Amino acid sequence: MRGLFITLEGPEGAGKTTNRAYLAEQLQAQGFVVALTREPGGTALAEQIREILLAPHDETMSVDTELLLMFAARAQHLAQVILPALAEGKIVICDRFTDATYAYQGGGRGLDCSRIALLEQFVQGDLRPDMTLLFDLPVEEGMARAVARGKLDRFEQEQQLFFENVRQSYLQRAQNDPQRFRLVNAQQTLADVQKSLDQYLLEIMERAREQ
Ligand code: TMP
Repeated sequence: MRGLFITLEGPEGAGKTTNRAYLAEQLQAQGFVVALTREPGGTALAEQIREILLAPHDETMSVDTELLLMFAARAQHLAQVILPALAEGKIVICDRFTDATYAYQGGGRGLDCSRIALLEQFVQGDLRPDMTLLFDLPVEEGMARAVARGKLDRFEQEQQLFFENVRQSYLQRAQNDPQRFRLVNAQQTLADVQKSLDQYLLEIMERAREQ
């Protein structure tokens, strides 16, 4: 039995966490077993790596260190949570995955995508998300929402250009892989966002039944 692997992507402040809970509730109400998780993190050890990644440090973290830590956390998360849940036939909904690495370390930090692809293959083998919902939002709005939430982490402290590059990189990936990506306009009201998620929920349920 093979479950379904759904990932949620987009900038900070796009409402991924709120909508992840909505997706889970709707699926559970229909009797599907859902595993909710996030990256970087999702296991005790991977959450420790997350803390290193997100906390501002006096020492500058090299871009390679950041990339390797993202994949170290991912390897642990895959082994402990994602792969076992998929093997049990669950629908895994993960807040961020490797598209975030392409967007932030590739687009944002300017790392060569071929290096990311190398690690992706090394850590994941052939595993890729079955469906990715990209919550898209203008940069100023995402930054304003992050600021309103309080203390900014190491990524949230980046400048506007960084986030413009992250956004473009996400949109480019979505354009290159329309089979996997579904675009969500995160500028809408929560009610309207959830209305647009409803059509994707039907698709997810249909695909989960086929597994
Ligand atoms: P969030 O999960 O609270 O949005 O914070 C995670 C931060 O980590 C966010 O700024 C995006 C960043 N990130 C990367 O830079 N690369 C990655 O591969 C992942 C999963 C997250």
